[in-house]
Formats: sequence, C-alpha cells, structure tokens
Amino acid sequence: MSAPAPAFKPLVFSGVQPTGNLHLGNYLGALVKFVDMQKTHDCVYCVVDLHAITVAQEPRELTANIREIAAAFIASGIDAKKHIVFNQSQVAEHAELAWVFNCVARLGWLNRMTQFKEKAGKDRENASIGLYDYPVLMASDILVYRATHVPVGDDQKQHLELTRDIAQKFNNDYAAPIAAAGHGAAFFPLPEPIIQGPATRVMSLRDGGKKMSKSEPSDYSRINLTDDADAIAQKIRKAKTDPEPLPGDVEGLKGRPEADNLVGIFAALAGTDKATVLRDFGGQTFSPFKTALADLMVTKLSPIAAEMRRLRADPAFIDGVLRDGSDRARAIAAANMKAVKDIVGFVR
Ligand code: TRP
Repeated sequence: MSAPAPAFKPLVFSGVQPTGNLHLGNYLGALVKFVDMQKTHDCVYCVVDLHAITVAQEPRELTANIREIAAAFIASGIDAKKHIVFNQSQVAEHAELAWVFNCVARLGWLNRMTQFKEKAGKDRENASIGLYDYPVLMASDILVYRATHVPVGDDQKQHLELTRDIAQKFNNDYAAPIAAAGHGAAFFPLPEPIIQGPATRVMSLRDGGKKMSKSEPSDYSRINLTDDADAIAQKIRKAKTDPEPLPGDVEGLKGRPEADNLVGIFAALAGTDKATVLRDFGGQTFSPFKTALADLMVTKLSPIAAEMRRLRADPAFIDGVLRDGSDRARAIAAANMKAVKDIVGFVR
C-alpha cells in the first residue's frame, strides 16, 4: 500500500539574476507576471546572487546589481510586505539543500543542460563547477520552499524539468522515511513552470530574430527599464521595420518578425492582444504606430524608472527590505531543511 499523494499548498517562487541592467524583455517577460501572480498566490521572489557568481563578478558591481533588481521588483509593484523579496545568499538553506540534491541528481542529467553548453562555450574545461551545477542550485531554490508554481521564461523550461526529476527521485529514493515521517507519498511537489505571460519573448529592436538582451552591443537594440522619455522615443523611431504598412490581422504578421515584435510589445504594455492592436493600426504606416508605441511605453515605464531612481538613492531602505525578506524566507526554508535532514537520516 502506498501512502496518498499529499496536496501541496500553492506557492510561487522565482529568481532573477543580478547581472546588469534590466530591460523591457525582463519587465514584460518576468516582472509583469510576478506582479500578476501576487493577486492569486503567496509569492517568494529572489535575487539569485549565488547564481551570479557562477561567472566572474566584480564585487562592487554585484552589490549594486543586487540592490538594482530588488529596486526593480518593488518599483514594478511587488509588495514586499505581503510577499517575500530577498537575496539568495542570505538564506544558507539554498546551498545546503543543493548539496543533498548534488547527491540525487545524476551526471547524465546535467550533461544534457543546453544553457550550460551555451554559457560555457568552447572552453568548457575552464568553466566553473558552479556553472555546471547551476541547475541543481536552481532546483534547491524552488524546492527548499516546496514551491508549486514557477514563473519563468521559456529558456528555463529544461531547468524546470530537471527540478521535477530531482524532486521525483528524492521522493522515490526516500519513500519509506518520507511516509514514516507523515509526509505521505511525496515530500517535494513537482513544480509547474508558468511560461505564458503578456510577452514571453521580446525581441531585439534591431533584429526581430534575436531576443532582446543586455549583452547585445548596440543599446538601440533594447529599451532599458531606466531609459528616459527621449531615449525611448529615439529607440522606437529607429527600431527596424519593413516597408509594408501594418497588416489588418495577426495572420499578416507571419514572416514579418520586426512588425510582430513591435505589435506584441504594444499589446503587452496596453494589456490587450495583437488582434486588438491591429484593429486600430492595420493598414497604416509604421510612423503613427511608432509614435503611439513610444507614448504608451513612456506612460508605462516612466513611473517605474522614477521609483527606481528614488530607491537607488536609498540603499539602506532596499537593504532593509532584503533583510526582512531573508528572515521570513529562512523561517520557511529552515523548517523544510530540518525535515530533509530527518528524511535523509542525519542526526540533529
Ligand atoms: N535561471 C534563472 C534565469 O536565468 C534564474 C533562477 C535561479 C530561477 N533560480 C531560480 C528562476 C529559481 C526560477 C526559479 O532566469
């Protein structure tokens, strides 16, 4: 007789790396979704500074970048009092559970991770062990809270599958002590990725075939969250398009990646869909559309930029938010980690 599968309390967890400037892709792809999910779920949002050091970091820049992401969370509308905002390094249980998971995950599983292959590049021998182990730490981030829902970009799907594999193998390997301790058939939930959002893929303004990215050399390829109104207007004016007028329906966006991207951005910012945007702008040239898009973007982003500037001037406030969040995160993580130690058979 196997124990019944427990129902896990819904909990959202997600993490953002503190590496450089946030752009419109991060905002529409992640932050808007994070803000949305707070209406329906308890949420834990983490600045993943332990993940950041898997590649070289200048310590003072890292410090500034951690505060910058925390500021962006708050400025975008995440309520750090109702929910939890903190930085990963301050809750030791993430690294502690990662060790246990290192002994659960298999070498073969990690060898399949495409993000490692991309990030390590040709010189794989010279990549840090941390970079290789990155997905295991990510599984620990999520599972140390026994989180059930994880809003992420589609590039993180494979890491979520690995997280589920690790949770499943832990539940199987330790089935007897898990049941004996009263946890039923599973200690860890199998967390669901939440991929859908207002704009899962925001593309470069210079090349509709490439994702908007902070590592693209040209700043004209992206809208930074802190760009002012002039910069936004100029970047949209210069954004690549094609010579045709805008189509009247979504079908007409096929094979027109730049038009598709701009219409998608408009829809996401306006909280509507592409069909509605094309109902208003179909048949027109790009020029009036671009003017409307720049105006909308300034309206939506400038309050966030202003709040980020205000928060940047008050690092003590940000640090206080992170400390408070870390304390509350630690309370959950420590209780789960104690249970893991009992399940594994450690004496405490
Ligand atoms: N790997 C994620 C990214 O690059 C960041 C991350 C780390 C994360 N830990 C996480 C995302 C846990 C979701 C849940 O986007």
